Parts: sequence; C-alpha cells; structure tokens
Amino acid sequence: MLEARHLVKRFFGVTVVDDVNFVVRPGEIVGCLGPNGSGKTTTARMLTGLLDPTRGSVFFDGSDINADPIGFRRRLGYVPEEPYLYPFLSGREYLELVGRLREMPAPLMAKKIAALLELFGLTGAVEQGIGSYSKGMKQKVLIIAAIMHDPDVLIFDEPDSGLDVTATLVLRHLVRALAARGKVVLYSSHVLEVVEKLCTRVVVIHRGRVVADDSVARLRSLMASSSLEEVFAQLVLRVDPERTAGDIADVVAARA
Ligand SMILES: Nc1ncnc2c1ncn2[C@@H]1O[C@H](COP(=O)(O)OP(=O)(O)OP(=O)(O)O)[C@@H](O)[C@H]1O
Ligand SMILES: [Mg+2]
Repeated sequence: MLEARHLVKRFFGVTVVDDVNFVVRPGEIVGCLGPNGSGKTTTARMLTGLLDPTRGSVFFDGSDINADPIGFRRRLGYVPEEPYLYPFLSGREYLELVGRLREMPAPLMAKKIAALLELFGLTGAVEQGIGSYSKGMKQKVLIIAAIMHDPDVLIFDEPDSGLDVTATLVLRHLVRALAARGKVVLYSSHVLEVVEKLCTRVVVIHRGRVVADDSVARLRSLMASSSLEEVFAQLVLRVDPERTAGDIADVVAARA
C-alpha cells in the first residue's frame, strides 16, 4: 500500500501542503478531491517521488520510497497534470522512448504500444509529431505512457482533462479494471461527480490539509457538516457563478 505520512510542502515559506496523511490500499480507488489550489497536484508529485517534501515521507509496501527510488519508479505509473511531451517526436516514438527508459523488452513493448494506440483510437496519428496532436490526443498518449509497463501504483492527476465523452468513459472503466487487478490507484480531481462515480474512498483536501477521508457513501452526509461547507461551496456551488460571470463581463466592457 501507498502511504502519505505527515507530508508538508512549503514554497518560499508558504505552506501549501500541511501535514497530509492517508493510505491507499491495493484494489482501492482513492479520490483526491479539492478546489483549485488546494494542494492536490503538490501532494501527487510528492507521492511520485518527483518533488521532495519539506517534511514527512511517502511509504510504499512498508518502506520509504527514498530507500529505493528506482525500484519504486519501476512500479509507478503517473499521469501528470501538465502534458509535458516532446512535440517533435511522433506518438509512437515518444512511447518507445518511455518504454526503453522503463527497460521494457523490445518485442513486448512494440506489441503493447501498437495495441494500446489502437485501443485509444490513435492509430491514424501514430507517425505524426505530437506537436500536431489535439489536447485529448496528447492526454491519451500520457495515459498509455503511464500504464504500459503494468505498474502497481497509479497516480492520476486530472487524467480526464481534454478527453471526449467516450474516452472519459473508457478511462473510468479502465481505472476500475486496474483496481480490480489489485493496483493502488489515486485519482486526483476537482470534479465531485467524477470522484463520486469512480472512487471507493475520498480524501478531501482544502488549503493543504485533509479535511475528510471517508467512503464515497458517507461523502454526501459529510457535505452537511460545517467543516466541509466551505470546501463544497467552492467545489459545487462556486459562489453564484452567474453573478461572478456578469461581474467579469462588466470589467471586460469597462471603457474608463
Ligand atoms: N512550484 C511552486 N512554487 C510555488 N508555489 C507553488 C508551486 N507549486 C504549487 N504551488 C502553490 O501551491 C498551491 C497548491 O497548488 P496545487 O497545484 O497543488 O493545487 P491543486 O489542488 O492541484 O489545484 P488545481 O485544482 O488547480 O490543479 C497553490 O497555491 C500553488 O500556487
Ligand atoms: Mg492540480
């Protein structure tokens, strides 16, 4: 299992992740839910080992991930929030690069890449430079790159960003299928409905702190609790969106 133990992150003296603790067990899909800027991506990056915590540690199967960072990365698949892809490589070339870095055997890698590109509906674009891909196509490449070495830990940071309805549904079922095969899955999102439909448990983060860690079944009743009122006001109600939109339009139209 994957454990966040007292994770703290400060940037320039500002605490953005503040003593975050939670556990993700194999077979679980844990949703990390919170408004924009609450610390989801920062937490996810610390869980991958890409960002060093200011304090605290990440444990996987009982060991600190820093004890064997390469061993941990072999077992990790990560879909980052930002699609950092090499624009001059084709989709196939990028996935081959990732596969080689992952030390996948060449024939298995070629077979998996071809099959996954086909299943994600990218076959027609495999030889095109990624720079010419649409947002959703880039996202699909990121997802393939994260899963093709069959990792045991999957950290998804807004993985449905830019995906169309069909691809989103495929992704949702895929996440469930991977969890059913015993993977550890963390799914970060600011969309309450997505987390409710997909996840078995939810960790709600607000201003860098875990304000709830419970089953999805209890999420709705938790929403009535005053400690969570503000979080869900931002997630669900978004403080009178129509009025805010009107105010923005007024500012844009200002002449003096
Ligand atoms: N490299 C950085 N340097 C300084 N501040 C940072 C850095 N990365 C994140 N932060 C700050 O940390 C806070 C949390 O950011 P984070 O990206 O973790 O939020 P998030 O919950 O993923 O939000 P979103 O839903 O918008 O993706 C923000 O206030 C952000 O400005
Ligand atoms: Mg984020």
